[in-house]
Formats: sequence, structure tokens, C-alpha cells
Amino acid sequence: MKTTIYQAEDLLKPNTIKHLKEVIQTGGLVVFPTETVYGIGANAYNPDAAHKIYQVKGRPQDNPLIVHIDHLHQLNELAQAISQDAHRLIQAFWPGPLTLIFDKTDKVPDTITSHLNTVAVRMPSNPLAQMFIHATETPICAPSANISGKPSSTLFEHVKMDLYNKVDIIIDGGKSTIGLESTVLDMTTPTPTILRPGSITKAMIENILQKPIDDLSEMIHESPKSPGMKYTHYKPQGDIILIDGAIENVIKYLNKQLKKNNNDDIAVICAHEVSEQIHAKQVFDLGALNDTETIASNLFIALRAMDDMNIKTIYIHTFSKDHLGSAIMNRLLKAAGYRVQSV
Ligand code: TXA
Ligand code: MG
Repeated sequence: MKTTIYQAEDLLKPNTIKHLKEVIQTGGLVVFPTETVYGIGANAYNPDAAHKIYQVKGRPQDNPLIVHIDHLHQLNELAQAISQDAHRLIQAFWPGPLTLIFDKTDKVPDTITSHLNTVAVRMPSNPLAQMFIHATETPICAPSANISGKPSSTLFEHVKMDLYNKVDIIIDGGKSTIGLESTVLDMTTPTPTILRPGSITKAMIENILQKPIDDLSEMIHESPKSPGMKYTHYKPQGDIILIDGAIENVIKYLNKQLKKNNNDDIAVICAHEVSEQIHAKQVFDLGALNDTETIASNLFIALRAMDDMNIKTIYIHTFSKDHLGSAIMNRLLKAAGYRVQSV
């Protein structure tokens, strides 16, 4: 298969819009940027097209897809029993990085929900994502645009590395603004429940609903509510050592380890304040400690860089769970297989 690549300005051309619609309406696949991470999209009403996504990604069949919409009228085709709470959250956070889980309608094929009776829906705010969905005239089911198990793609280069000539079209939207996947919130439970933390935080949701909500994202279940919770994610080839402690202790520990062993295949991923104090050969500076937005947007780029450099041992330190920190720590814990070294 030959992949066509479009730039942002191409989406203003009628021929590009026609091509996008044609590809999606005939069961093809399009990679598109969103404000969180890149998605690999198909017509949500075409089970064969959705099936292709699973094949291309190597994704387990029991992990359902998020349906992306560009207009609220599409929500009523997909979901039922939409509560007052859900309407409040939609008004507050859509378009944006919040995915809501609803009871599904019969129109939603079982392939994309992995035979669950619920469906995940979100309306992305990225203008290119909106233009793409609008052009196709259908809801788009899309997981993150990466080979299953790798970190989600937040750069065009990463999408290309994983999916070039495996999809019909890739839209180049540059670096993803947020860089972590959307918050997934289950609206079918008596109390709304976070299944995956993202940049729309628990506090932001509680502030709109004026009541406490639940957060299941930190628990590993026998039978997880969100199938995606049970799979290892974001796993680079090297071993991750996640270090937890006061910043001075982290620096001391790192320098002690690096004194013992400072080969080319050892790297440190850390905040700027730490990078200035350690003597590693390979350092990936994520950004200033208090700038969690920058840290979040660089995290998957850092993890992918480790494989490019053939790093065998990766040291990363923990981050405070304030604001975006909860989402950052969720991804780091998964990447590290939930092993933490206290210092
Ligand atoms: O930001 C995002 O959400 C990105 C962009 C492309 O929109 N998409 C994304 O998709 O991260 P994916 O497939 O990598 O993650 C979707 C998560 C998975 O953990 C999946 O198990 C969960 O949402 N999910 C989807 N449908 C669900 C459902 N009906 N019930 C519970 N969890 C669901
Ligand atoms: Mg994913």
C-alpha cells in the first residue's frame, strides 16, 4: 500500500477533502493529529474497516476503540441514556481531551466496542482532526496511531515510523499539543469513574459536577473495566527504573549509580533541575519541574528516543501528582511495570 501524506494547508483544498471522504467511505484508514496524540481512524459504522485497524496495530481484539465526532448530533446515533451530568461535562470540556463512556445504541458495531454494551466517545479540539471528521461525514473510530505496546505517537515522524505504507493517508499535524491520551470517564456507573487520567483532571470534573467522582485508574484489576488497563503500555526495549524521593535524594542516587556504571546504553529521563546536577552520558531533559504541560508533551518522545539510541537501562524519577502529574505518573508506572525504587 502507498501512503499519501497531507500537510495542514492541503486540508483547505477540495480535492483533499474529497480524497479523505472517499478513503473513509470505502473502508480505508487515515492517521490524523489530535490535541492529545495521533489517531488511526476508520469509519465507525464499517466493522471491516475497524477490523483493519486492529490488524495494522497488532492490537488485541478485546480492547475497544474511541469514536471521534465533530458534531453533537452524532452523539445521539452512538449513545443512549445520556445523563444531566454528562451534558454538563460535554458543555464544559468538548471539544477537548475528555472521552466519555455511554451505553451504546444498536448502530455501533460490536467490532469497535469489543462486544461491550458501552461506547467511548470524544470530540477532539484539534482543527485538523475536526476538518478530517467533518470531511468524511461519519463518526471515526480511532485508537492511538502506534504499533500496539509502543508509546502513542506525538510526532509525525513517529507515526511515519510505525505506519507508513500501512495506511491510506497520514495527515501531518506536527507535535501533539498535550502529548498524553485523553481522560477516559465512565458515565455508566452510579458515580462517574475515571478509567484513564489525562489533562482533564479529577478536580476539574468534580468542579463542574459539584460532587466527588471515583478514580479506578491506579488499580490493576482481575477484570479491568477498561480493557486497555490490563495491557503493558509505553514499554521501551530497555528496563525502566522509576526513582521516588526528594529531588536531592534522586540526584544523589543517580550520581552514585552513574559512578558505578556510565555506559552509552544507560540514560536518564528527568526534569531540567535534575539534568543540571547529574553526570550521565545520555540525558533527556523533559522540562522544568513545575512545568507539567511541557513534561507531559515530551514524555512519549523521550520514551521513544530510548529505543532509537538502543538504551538498555533507563532511569526516570517520579513527579508530583498535582494537575497533569496524575496522568504523567499513570503512564510512567505502566512503562515501569509498576516497579518503584524509593530513595
Ligand atoms: O486521546 C485519546 O484518547 C487518543 C486519541 C487518538 O483520541 N486515543 C486513544 O485511544 O488513546 P486508545 O485506543 O489508545 O485508548 C482508548 C482507551 C483504551 O484504554 C480502551 O480500553 C478504552 O479507552 N475504552 C474504549 N472503549 C471503552 C469502553 N466502551 N469501555 C471502557 N473503556 C473503553
Ligand atoms: Mg493506545
